[in-house]
Amino acid sequence: MKNIQIAMDGPSGAGKSTIAKRAARSLGILYLDTGAMYRAVALKGIRCGIDLCDEKSVGGMMAETVIDVVYREGNQRVLLDGEDITDAIRTNEVSMGASRVSAHPAVRERMVATQQGIARRNSVIMDGRDIGTKVLPDADLKIFLTATAEDRAMRRYLELQEKGMADKSYEALLDEIRERDRNDSSRTHSPLVRAEDAILLDTTGFSLEQAMDAVMKIIKNARMD
Ligand code: DC
Repeated sequence: MKNIQIAMDGPSGAGKSTIAKRAARSLGILYLDTGAMYRAVALKGIRCGIDLCDEKSVGGMMAETVIDVVYREGNQRVLLDGEDITDAIRTNEVSMGASRVSAHPAVRERMVATQQGIARRNSVIMDGRDIGTKVLPDADLKIFLTATAEDRAMRRYLELQEKGMADKSYEALLDEIRERDRNDSSRTHSPLVRAEDAILLDTTGFSLEQAMDAVMKIIKNARMD
């Protein structure tokens, strides 16, 4: 049987990773969080104290960096030069850093090649910004998941409150989301754009369950033969 490829793109905070992870489990295929790979690059840059906006410095660092993706008990782990940094990349500083390093072609080329290698060997649902346009242009199904910046910031705010980690106001979170949207959409290399053949799903006002149901409906209706 041929491998299935599902691409899920969209802006930060649209719920892509939660939804794609659940969809992968229900389909019995691999989930690849490509953002985690860019986050790993950002973490290394932060640790090395380099200017993440400087293409030359980041390119130089990439030449001495190995990023691997492995699966342990079905869960993706990201290794940076052999160290498991899966949990260390979920900070706000790394989020902003990833948005910067992902603009550099030297970073993107390496990440895309690794991602394409994984998709050649496995059936996969991948989420990111350039999956439908660049990584898997011939994917069996492409979904572009979005919601307004206000809605995404509010979801993040409520999530942080629930975890007792709400150290930022809704307005501050909205500013950050807008800045990441700007970085992701305005860069020259593989900016965030909807692939022409991607199905647009705007989840503004949806609960996570409603968004999940809508995605599963799209997957069930898609022809993947
Ligand atoms: O999905 P995320 O928030 O973990 O992604 C972190 C950053 O990496 C985000 O600002 C955009 C970038 N990214 C990208 O440019 N291309 C991808 N395929 C995935 C993420």
